[in-house]
Amino acid sequence: MDFKSIIRDIPDFPQKGIIFRDITPLLAHPQGLTAIIQGFQTKFAELNIDIDAVIGIESRGFILGAPLAMQLGASFIPVRKPKKLPSAVFRVEYALEYGTDTLEIHQDAIGVGKRVIIIDDVIATGGTAAATAKLVEQTGAKLVGYGFLIELDFLNGRKALPEVPIVSLVNY
Ligand code: PRP
Ligand code: MG
Repeated sequence: MDFKSIIRDIPDFPQKGIIFRDITPLLAHPQGLTAIIQGFQTKFAELNIDIDAVIGIESRGFILGAPLAMQLGASFIPVRKPKKLPSAVFRVEYALEYGTDTLEIHQDAIGVGKRVIIIDDVIATGGTAAATAKLVEQTGAKLVGYGFLIELDFLNGRKALPEVPIVSLVNY
């Protein structure tokens, strides 16, 4: 499936000068989600790594992370925006262009030594994905890879990430 031809480009959203890559038409395509998940599975299989758990980053990472976890026979673990998780959490604050953002994970979500991958729809600056790696580290689990549907190469977000394999399906 030609993902790029189905992903919709929205100029000047959320701010002037930004082209927003809108994945909703791809998700709406009856075979879209299946093709995305198959794409991830193929690329992770090539890496030949054991995966115990898939971390999805709220919100759009949930859409892709949960079905991938099913296909891999792995756990699904949500990383959430603040004050959503009910039990004890680890918290990380990270810088945005203006201000900061926060993500949380349940302290007992994964388990020491478990091998996890982090999934999100897009890597832009890499701030969100890098912050999520810090949460994984706090749980004692081992990060073994990242998967993104879209990578914005010109922002060089992968430079902000720890040195593990990075899978991306569409590059701009
Ligand atoms: C978007 C996107 C990624 C993140 C990428 O999420 O879904 O999670 O930004 O940007 P970065 O690499 O510069 O950190 P957003 O925070 O807009 O929220 P959403 O997923 O809830 O829509
Ligand atoms: Mg997001």
